[in-house]
Amino acid sequence: MKLIFLGPPGAGKGTQAAGVSANLRVPHISTGDMFRNAVNNKTPTGVEAKRYMDAGQLVPDSVVIAMVKERLSEPDCANGYLLDGFPRTVEQAEALEGISAPDAVIDIEVPDERLFDRLTGRRVCKACRGTYHISKLANETVCPVCGNEVYQRDDDKPETITKRLQVYHEATAPLIGYYEAKGKLNRIDGDRNLEDVFKAILASLE
Ligand code: AP5
Repeated sequence: MKLIFLGPPGAGKGTQAAGVSANLRVPHISTGDMFRNAVNNKTPTGVEAKRYMDAGQLVPDSVVIAMVKERLSEPDCANGYLLDGFPRTVEQAEALEGISAPDAVIDIEVPDERLFDRLTGRRVCKACRGTYHISKLANETVCPVCGNEVYQRDDDKPETITKRLQVYHEATAPLIGYYEAKGKLNRIDGDRNLEDVFKAILASLE
């Protein structure tokens, strides 16, 4: 199965991708995580990506497409993939058609007013990468799963979130129509509890 998760920042793509990729036995490939690793390792890609990410803007298509093309050529993608955060522009979607076209697209839909709270309250574990909302943490700095420190992403500041949402509506939302026209789009109401969203995604793929 070759699957894409589409949706605005904070829709729950990363949260749901972990369980869905395990269920489908395909690798979860998050371009945001790949860029954050590159930033932490101070690679040339990371240095270039950081200034776009901190500004809430998209990294240039040529950089992202080259990175994804290389990743999809690795052996663990032989039976498919779950792409989270790619494609994000029509140019990226067109490039993916030539690399390895998706079988289905899951569009996780959540109203903007809910996304703001989700993103300002998001905390991520430095060790296991688990993602939580601060309201659900007994200790605001400790991962409930592995006990390591959780942190707030640099791009989860209110002014950057506003920019990310604007960029989503301008550059990425057109992909909903793009994949609908190809008959590959599955719309999922993401404004429900985690378990219900998970079940709805799997049901839409049957
Ligand atoms: P990326 O990391 O991909 O960020 P994003 O798309 O903005 O998505 P997020 O990770 O913010 O949200 P999510 O949908 O995964 O939500 P999550 O599950 O964490 O990209 C970051 C940056 O990298 C971009 O801005 C850009 O600069 C660059 N980039 C990446 N890919 C690129 C590309 N293809 N082209 C160009 N540039 C690129 O959940 C969020 C919160 O909500 C959490 O607290 C979670 O606990 C909570 N939550 C989740 N589901 C629910 C629910 N059902 N109910 C209540 N709370 C929930």
